[in-house]
Amino acid sequence: MGKRGFRAAILHFLDDPSIAGDAAWEYFADGLLVVEAGKIVAVGEYTHTIDFEVVDYRGKLIIPGFIDTHIHYPQTDMIGAYGAQLLDWLETYTFPEEAKFADEHHARDVAERFLNELLRNGTTTALVFGTVHPQSVDAFFQAAQQRQLRMIAGKVLMDRNAPENLCDTAEQGYAESKELIQRWHGVDRLLYAVTPRFAPTSSRAQLDKAGELLQEFPDVYMHTHLAENEAEIAWVAELFPESDNYLDVYEHSGLLGKRSVFAHGVHLCEASCERLAATDSVVAHCPTSNLFLGSGLFPLRKIQQHGIRVGLGTDVGAGTSFSMLQTMGEAYKVQQLQGQSLAALETLYLATLGGAKALSLDHCIGNFTDGKEADFVVLDLAATPLLASRTARCRSIQETIFVLNTLADDRAVAATYILGEQAQSH
Ligand code: GUN
Ligand code: ZN
Repeated sequence: MGKRGFRAAILHFLDDPSIAGDAAWEYFADGLLVVEAGKIVAVGEYTHTIDFEVVDYRGKLIIPGFIDTHIHYPQTDMIGAYGAQLLDWLETYTFPEEAKFADEHHARDVAERFLNELLRNGTTTALVFGTVHPQSVDAFFQAAQQRQLRMIAGKVLMDRNAPENLCDTAEQGYAESKELIQRWHGVDRLLYAVTPRFAPTSSRAQLDKAGELLQEFPDVYMHTHLAENEAEIAWVAELFPESDNYLDVYEHSGLLGKRSVFAHGVHLCEASCERLAATDSVVAHCPTSNLFLGSGLFPLRKIQQHGIRVGLGTDVGAGTSFSMLQTMGEAYKVQQLQGQSLAALETLYLATLGGAKALSLDHCIGNFTDGKEADFVVLDLAATPLLASRTARCRSIQETIFVLNTLADDRAVAATYILGEQAQSH
């Protein structure tokens, strides 16, 4: 496979702009991204001395593929279900929907449509919940493998406080997860996450077995929910009276660490922040979900000040959009409601290189440095009449990105590339 170039405006990050400021990013107004054998081999200003094919995307903006650090593929068909907070929303809508994934044909159908939706939105990597059924994870990984995607997923562990047809047992959950790890973890671009749903639906025995898996397979991920909603937190305190706080329930079973991703963390005490930081654990900020379920306002600055890695997540189906652009726009508003600012480039960082760092994947994705996997998005700044007239009035790339945060969605995604090839809908 020879070299291929892509000519466009190009923006990517080398570091966190909330720390490194303007040294954190590179922007080439007339840039060239060069790809060979699925990897980035160069990025810079366009020059005229080029002896390979160049795809002309002048007028468009190329950025790294979006990274969604928390999403549920089985909830694709129930996005936007009306009117409840977390616990009744789970009972009323989520559990009945997830029960359908006992049928692997259904799982396969939803997995394909889910991946189409991610790619339409420019999301190239995600950390994904399956259901309790191991076949839900097989279906997802098969579909992702066929498209050569870098994805992390896992089977839900849930052995109490849920309908019987959605429960495993501590032993069964352990054995099924182990089998899935052996079948999928590290195969092509796929990685496994041990996935206890959240503390209320797992017994102590099950959380301990999850911890055992992490000991046995130290490079798999751990993915769960944490401190999303007040009623949930009160319930956890009742179920685990011996624990100091919600996070402590997980820590007691050895579930914290650099590949542990906790969705939400909206209501965290200082002690929990200190433990997250000390163990290098990660929090996924899911603004559309937190607003939709009325969960609360994520304290981004407090979390960042503790040095905790943060990614952005859509949390579909409690989240209301697959679009990371829309998610970025809502993250801005969540900061506004707390009297804090959030620069456009900070949110774009969280959705790209910051997400890669949150998932410990920044050695292979997240920006355009040499040797990275060539997953990228071509954005059309004139995708709608309003976007066209509004972006034409922007005087800097920062202004343009902020307008995209606020106004853009899947319509602005002109093309999504995976390993240097344009992704097609299946
Ligand atoms: N907590 C436990 N399960 C879920 C879920 O499916 N979605 C959200 N948002 N929170 C949860
Ligand atoms: Zn979730």
